[in-house]
Amino acid sequence: MSELKAEISKRRTFGIISHPDAGKTTLTEKLLLYGGAIQEAGAVKSNKIKKGATSDFMEIERQRGISVATSVMGFEYKGRKINILDTPGHQDFAEDTYRTLTAVDSVIVVIDVAKGVEAQTEKLVEVCRMRDTPIIIFINKLDREGKDAYDLLDEVEEKLGLTVCPLSWPIGMGARFKGVYNLWEKNIQLYTEQKKQRISESINIEDISTPEIEKYIDKETADTLREEIELVSGVYPPFDKEAYLKGQLCPVFFGSALNNFGVRELLNCFVEIAPIPQPKMADDVLINPLQDDFTGFVFKIHANMDPKHRDRIAFLKIVSGVFRRNTNYHHVRLGKNLKFSSPTAFMASKKSVVEEAFPGDIVGLHDTGNFRIGDTLTEGSKLSFKGIPSFSPEHFRFINNADPLKSKQLHKGVDQLMDEGVAQLFTLESNNRQIIGTVGALQYEVIQYRLEHEYGAKCTYENYPAYKACWIESFDDDQLDEFKKLKYRYLARDKFNRLVFLADSSFSLNMAKEKFPKIKFYLKSEF
Ligand code: G4P
Repeated sequence: MSELKAEISKRRTFGIISHPDAGKTTLTEKLLLYGGAIQEAGAVKSNKIKKGATSDFMEIERQRGISVATSVMGFEYKGRKINILDTPGHQDFAEDTYRTLTAVDSVIVVIDVAKGVEAQTEKLVEVCRMRDTPIIIFINKLDREGKDAYDLLDEVEEKLGLTVCPLSWPIGMGARFKGVYNLWEKNIQLYTEQKKQRISESINIEDISTPEIEKYIDKETADTLREEIELVSGVYPPFDKEAYLKGQLCPVFFGSALNNFGVRELLNCFVEIAPIPQPKMADDVLINPLQDDFTGFVFKIHANMDPKHRDRIAFLKIVSGVFRRNTNYHHVRLGKNLKFSSPTAFMASKKSVVEEAFPGDIVGLHDTGNFRIGDTLTEGSKLSFKGIPSFSPEHFRFINNADPLKSKQLHKGVDQLMDEGVAQLFTLESNNRQIIGTVGALQYEVIQYRLEHEYGAKCTYENYPAYKACWIESFDDDQLDEFKKLKYRYLARDKFNRLVFLADSSFSLNMAKEKFPKIKFYLKSEF
């Protein structure tokens, strides 16, 4: 096997997604414990916005400070190199999460057994389903009372539109929680409440009908388990790796991340079944990781917290070939060559300079303003990776310059913050005024603060009453011309100079759709 092939087959790059508080940080930490990447619980800083501690806005700055360390957490386990890509918990940062999901090959979804499927989980899973990302589900907090396992799985199937296949099954719950039966490894894992560090022993049970089970759990519980396992194999489809890899079947595990229970089983199964780095579309060509030519794309940009150093880290996902330090690579959008003297790799929360990196890996590139989210690097070919989504913002405001002497700084600051993906910029066709669109209202404070502290520019905002931004496209020029004439006031260009209709209400959007059937209106665009 070639070195490249061997390196690719070792790698598993995935993301953990959940609604805030379901246990994503706790699970990440336990996974890192198994990989020996950290020694103690509490080492992974939660990047969620703590309520009440300080203002939400200061919390965002705090989060930005730690999120560079947790952006990528790499560790080795059973001869595999595992990369966990972090996703922000706060819904105002949903766009960051969507972009990160373009750089993973699979995901683990954490669901709180008591809360079931929550809003944020629904949205994120929808994005995964759009690209058929393989999903494993971890149902967490079994040490607490929660929903009945069958009901919960019904809810997952209904709300998330997934077909599930339990690979473990809970024995009781809450105060009566005895453990799980692991259908994947065919053993019972007994639970004893011991916080944090305990790694519980499992008991091998090939045949669930054996009376030996009753040595560990009482007869009544054992009988219930036998009945349930029989029912499970009747109700749910058997595990099928191909179906999982196509995103059509989701294995489900039950456990308690806080008690480190069920986590090792999840990880053992994950390393066996999770996909290796996958091919990716660039223009109309599928780029195979095995091809010798290096290619990669930037899915995230992180600005330095120190306002005196306005440098940034661009996170590059390697798609194919080998990335090497101090080698000239082609920046396709800018049409120029760049080389990197200190690309960093991420192992747990440590950064180190790497000589080379392989498909599935993420490297951090020191950037002085060359990169924008979605940029492609190659060994010379002109291809561009597609598929980093941008969604219609929910909030829209005009941005005004509050210090006329600093207009250059303002312009540069806005430009760079948009490159980072903090918000979206639209320029009105009619008068060239600039509108900033965001997912959450908090981003306006962040932008104002960062413009002032990092660029020395001041801005004010003015509400712009838009409902949604729709990217439009039409193959009928006459209709498009008519639309442009009629809606001139509501038309803008995005940062890539694409035409956008800023609909002022859902009513006017629907009217426009009816009146102009040959125009396509998209609430999402890809770049
Ligand atoms: P998140 O990243 O998805 O937002 O969730 P996080 O891991 O921070 O967990 C949210 C809360 O749920 C934490 O409690 C955590 O200790 C708790 N938790 C996680 N897994 C389990 C579990 O298996 N069982 C139980 N009972 N609780 C669990 P917290 O009080 O908000 O924070 P902390 O003070 O414990 O850090």
